[in-house]
Amino acid sequence: MIYHRKPTWHIPEAQATAESAFFNRRQLLATMGLGGAASALVAGRANAAAVPGDDFEPVPERNELFEAGEDREITEEKAATTYNNFYEFGSHKQISKKAQALDTEGWTIKIDGHVEKEMVIDAEDLIAKMSIEERVTRHRCVEAWSMVVPWVCFPLADLVKFANPTSDAKYVRFETFLDPKIASGQRQGWYPWAYNDGLTIEEATNPIALMVVGAYGKVLHKQFGAPMRLHVPWKYGFKSVKSINRITFTDERPVSFWEEIAKTEYGFWANVNPEVKHPRWSQATERVLGTTERIPTVKFNGYGEDVASLYSDTLAKKEGVRLWR
Ligand code: MTE
Repeated sequence: MIYHRKPTWHIPEAQATAESAFFNRRQLLATMGLGGAASALVAGRANAAAVPGDDFEPVPERNELFEAGEDREITEEKAATTYNNFYEFGSHKQISKKAQALDTEGWTIKIDGHVEKEMVIDAEDLIAKMSIEERVTRHRCVEAWSMVVPWVCFPLADLVKFANPTSDAKYVRFETFLDPKIASGQRQGWYPWAYNDGLTIEEATNPIALMVVGAYGKVLHKQFGAPMRLHVPWKYGFKSVKSINRITFTDERPVSFWEEIAKTEYGFWANVNPEVKHPRWSQATERVLGTTERIPTVKFNGYGEDVASLYSDTLAKKEGVRLWR
């Protein structure tokens, strides 16, 4: 059944490029289920020898169910790739040059913990098994800036399915590489390296949680977290771990890099919410990268219809403000 009800963030009809943009996205995603996204919508499989910044091959097809939203434009590539958080290469935003030291050739990913069979797999082989598409999504940093990026990606749910977790797995923890020789930030011993964060299994299998392998039609830029990073559009950006080389399925809620540093500021849940201020600043508005604009922040970053059901009243009562910070 085709619905014509448009979510609040939907592009105006005049700008729409495909009929699929008018489907009820949530219903469509729900009917696809785990792994189904691939067969229904997808473009193709990734190129084998991926060099960050090269054109992504084959050209990923855009999934029209995901649009920036009314009055939101795709952030210029230059603005998005020269203002990055990647503490491994410095605690400021101009790390793009330093991040080129990252060597992604022969990158492997360990999948361990509560899975049927632990493994170490080449990132290229893993990516080649996934069905790749382009999705335009909003990214909101806890520091109150935001951008809109056309990510080259696949649903994280497909990776969870591939990993084949056992019923003991309640959480997924994502960890970044550790190599102080090339990442000068990791020589600063007061940080609890390696960078990591986690999701519940329910969050990780929500169809809008993504594994990103490219952006702007290119193989993922090093400063964006090549060769593979997480993107959780309804949560503050610090949850979206870059340059992942270990994925662990666990029965214990992980304590993340930032939670260990300042648990009152950067909790496990970190759902975007304009009503809950960060202890040191308001979250009511956000600065749009590459412009002089400030716009109101939207709860769940505008993805409430896809994810609000993950956070029941009981859970909200138990976790209180921590759900949102
Ligand atoms: N991942 C790693 N490994 N190291 C980091 O410092 N910063 C996080 C997240 N993932 C970070 C990371 C934060 S705070 C944000 S806002 C996003 O990456 C920034 O991603 P961007 O470069 O795409 O803007």
